[in-house]
Amino acid sequence: MVCGKGGTGKTALTVLMAKVLTGKYRVYIVDSDESNILLPKLLGVNPPTPLIEYIGGKMDEEELERREIDITKILAKTGSGVRLSSLPNEYISYSKENIGLITIGKVREYGEGCACPFNILTRIVLKNLVLEDDEVVLVDTDAGIEHVGRRVEETVDCLVIIVDPTAESLHSAVLLRDIASNLGKRYWIIANKVTPRVWAIIKREAEKLKVKIDGAVRFDDDLYESVLLGEAIKSTIALEDVEKILKNIMLI
Ligand SMILES: Nc1ncnc2c1ncn2[C@@H]1O[C@H](COP(=O)(O)OP(=O)(O)O)[C@@H](O)[C@H]1O
Ligand SMILES: [Mg+2]
Repeated sequence: MVCGKGGTGKTALTVLMAKVLTGKYRVYIVDSDESNILLPKLLGVNPPTPLIEYIGGKMDEEELERREIDITKILAKTGSGVRLSSLPNEYISYSKENIGLITIGKVREYGEGCACPFNILTRIVLKNLVLEDDEVVLVDTDAGIEHVGRRVEETVDCLVIIVDPTAESLHSAVLLRDIASNLGKRYWIIANKVTPRVWAIIKREAEKLKVKIDGAVRFDDDLYESVLLGEAIKSTIALEDVEKILKNIMLI
């Protein structure tokens, strides 16, 4: 699960991590961000139909919680857990690198209610997920920490916590790190958008909060520009750094 303060680069780094991992694994991205909509563009795919539609549309939290078993059966079809690879075509879009994108749902209409149902559905999907040995799922999360309130963290294996050169993101990292360690999950903290001038400062500020930075991704103008244009992500510098980090921390 990729998490951290809004704007730190979760979505961009999720796409880059997927690109790196796709050589070795079958990679899926679960887009659980209920507000931002550009992930398909950054990945270069058409938006898949949100999973919330598969289970009959948005419903209130109580109903979702009550129908968990029923919903799992709908998603699993065979009743033996949810396999992303067996979702009907319209709910999964594959990039040219064969990265599969699944979207939970988006808040689109003024006054339609809060995003909690999407986070609950994310939890139901991830909790009941069945993975083959060669499959990896990256979960891109929303800007807030709504997922914390909805206990999405307990359904994942590890957290990749992104910080950027802001004090706020370091403080969010402290919260997320404590959640990860209380749940007994592995986690890594990655500094993103790092420039030579701020690198020493980030390390110093992180140390004050007892935050250990496990890797750094440099500020990448190509990436910045492609995200501005809403195009498939172009990146060499950040991609290189992400590859290095994944080699280090995940021993790929
Ligand atoms: N390594 C990087 N270099 C330059 N810009 C970056 C980098 N990572 C992210 N960004 C920029 O930061 C902004 C937020 O990125 P995004 O992935 O949408 O963040 P989040 O998903 O955490 O809200 C975007 O403008 C994106 O281009
Ligand atoms: Mg995002």
